[in-house]
Amino acid sequence: MPKLIIEASGLVKHYTIDGRLIEVLRGIDLRLSGGEVVAVVGPSGAGKSTLLHLIGLLEAPTGGQLMLGGADAARLTERERARYRLERIGFVFQFHHLLPEFTSLENVILPGLIRGLPRSECEGRARELLGQVGLAERTIHKPGELSGGEQQRVAFARALMNKPDLILADEPTGNLDRQASSHLRDLLWSICRERGTTLLLVTHNETLSSGADRMLRMVDGRITDVSDIT
Ligand SMILES: Nc1ncnc2c1ncn2[C@@H]1O[C@H](COP(=O)(O)OP(=O)(O)OP(=O)(O)O)[C@@H](O)[C@H]1O
Ligand SMILES: [Mg+2]
Repeated sequence: MPKLIIEASGLVKHYTIDGRLIEVLRGIDLRLSGGEVVAVVGPSGAGKSTLLHLIGLLEAPTGGQLMLGGADAARLTERERARYRLERIGFVFQFHHLLPEFTSLENVILPGLIRGLPRSECEGRARELLGQVGLAERTIHKPGELSGGEQQRVAFARALMNKPDLILADEPTGNLDRQASSHLRDLLWSICRERGTTLLLVTHNETLSSGADRMLRMVDGRITDVSDIT
């Protein structure tokens, strides 16, 4: 499959609450080439999560255009959007959203089963992914029996299950200490680079951007500064 190129131009997102207009994204231009590791750093309320939700097709923009591999996202049907999310995007959320009743292994397997892959294949792949994130010895633990950093690594393994082209990571180290967050960042970077997976990470923590190909700054719904790190 060709590498996915994502192009946002003039992306705008507004909400209206009690008749009051809230301009969350005020015209975002962003291009992600296949295999790039990009960090967007900005303060709370800047619109970072909203941007990820638009690129991840969880929400529709109020204005502007989002092109995915040359196709206009606005023209996809609901079914095509769902399929795209399942097959091409992996999400890692701030609060991992693992299913508490299921083991690590089952949590990682689930997106593969939803996609309709055979269980044995999913299980083999899930074991391999958990090994890669250093959790080969934690496959039968449930989320409540894991540390915060381990839970995030399970969430990362789950995001990789369907071999996505793009990983969207929202404050993935939000509740970890410095050492654990650097470790998780390095793991995210190295696994995405090895697989050629594009990684878009948003965070308020600038140290998380170290090692990215590019860092963008986001303030008040706009990208204000673009710096090439390499
Ligand atoms: N569904 C919504 N309705 C109305 N306003 C919203 C909605 N979602 C987000 N907002 C507003 O948009 C702004 C940006 O929110 P967003 O969650 O994208 O910020 P963020 O940069 O991710 O912040 P944080 O670092 O705290 O996670 C906030 O002021 C928020 O109140
Ligand atoms: Mg956020």
